[in-house]
Amino acid sequence: AGSVERGADGALTVGGTSVLDLAREHGTPAYVLDEDDFRTRARAFRDAWATAYGPLAGADVYYAGKAFLCTQVARWVRDEGLHLDVCSGGELAVAQRAGMPPERIGVHGNNKSMAELERAVALGVGRVVVDSAEEIERLAAVAQRLGTTARVMVRVTVGVEAHTHEFIATAHEDQKFGFSLGSGAAADAVRRILAHAPHLELVGLHSHIGSQIFDTAGFEVSARRVLGLHAAVAQEHGVRLPELDLGGGFGIAYTTEHDPLPPHELASGMAAIVERECRGLGVPVPRVSVEPGRAIAGPSTFTLYEVGTVKQVDLDGGARRAYVSVDGGMSDNIRTALYEASFSCTLASRRSEAPPRLSRVVGKHCESGDIVVMDEFLPADVRPGDLLAVPGTGAYCRALSSQYNHVPRPPVLAVRDGVSRVIVRRETVEDLLALDVP
Ligand code: LLP
Repeated sequence: AGSVERGADGALTVGGTSVLDLAREHGTPAYVLDEDDFRTRARAFRDAWATAYGPLAGADVYYAGKAFLCTQVARWVRDEGLHLDVCSGGELAVAQRAGMPPERIGVHGNNKSMAELERAVALGVGRVVVDSAEEIERLAAVAQRLGTTARVMVRVTVGVEAHTHEFIATAHEDQKFGFSLGSGAAADAVRRILAHAPHLELVGLHSHIGSQIFDTAGFEVSARRVLGLHAAVAQEHGVRLPELDLGGGFGIAYTTEHDPLPPHELASGMAAIVERECRGLGVPVPRVSVEPGRAIAGPSTFTLYEVGTVKQVDLDGGARRAYVSVDGGMSDNIRTALYEASFSCTLASRRSEAPPRLSRVVGKHCESGDIVVMDEFLPADVRPGDLLAVPGTGAYCRALSSQYNHVPRPPVLAVRDGVSRVIVRRETVEDLLALDVP
């Protein structure tokens, strides 16, 4: 997070609050979210896209709620002037509770339920991104039944191999999302909506190639391909689609090996491509939207853990590794186990002059894959009672958390101007028991 510093006592402070106070007041583990950092990044994206596309047809930034969503965060997103991408009835409920204007909500999902479609249409969301032939029929029927028109986008699979983990790449052909461009399924979906669905208003095409992407070539190819279809629609149907969504996926630096582009460079680079491509195709530039999740939420948060045990293990070749066990683990951060994601870790509660020691930060769960940080050189005197901070956990950590082993999930603490407040409270064992039928 932007405002993390080390205080005079050697303990980290964030947003003016010491981790020692946070741990004392709220316990560990905890997600510590720097509200200014989140808001600043949200604004940076909004401003970057507004500036780059201002001279064109304008732009909207949809915060992808799947990265992390709670009522307060949805309110910040609303207040900072962003739109919100939701992909389930649950996320839609949070958006509503936060007072997000329906026209600023976009709804995603490859298998939305009838109830989800009905809620979205009844609410009058800004757009539903349709993902299958069945869904076009369902949505058309829902809109007709409710006597309204639903604004839709068609999700196009552009056939790009994004350079990221295969589980989070979404635009190659062999996966579940969208209508394939290559096979003609996307063009068919457009035809179907335009010709036979009077209760659906097609506002544009959508493409999203994956997540944690640094190579902008993937975004470029995707934009060019989806604009090709956009122009073909103009030609075949004489319809000028007013919008185009280029998805999210902008990578962040979890460790020093990554160096992400700042939002204004991303935005201006993409705007140049969109403009050039549209000129070449002879179509007016549509209003563009993007859906960053990780790039806004990820860097805002670190997870604060307390060390419980430290164990030294001999490795082949005579080296040793310290297994540092913390009071959370794969239930609050499954990204390492699931995607072999890289995180770093710092001793947060004090300064140490001890030499660095090869360490692995592990959780308290009943499996050896329960690893939070694969390799880190922590001071050799790290011991029980120390606090550790794992940065970059604002996206897809709390969102993907579980209650594995009946370990209650940590709270989310928002810090700002030296004040901390709970924005998602800590789960308790009673919460877990409450779901059990005795
Ligand atoms: N738009 C769509 C249609 C998406 O599917 C996603 C992410 C986004 C936007 C936001 O992508 P972002 O800007 O956050 O990269 N759990 C995985 C990431 C899954 C991403 C799913 N879709 C992880 O922890 O890496």
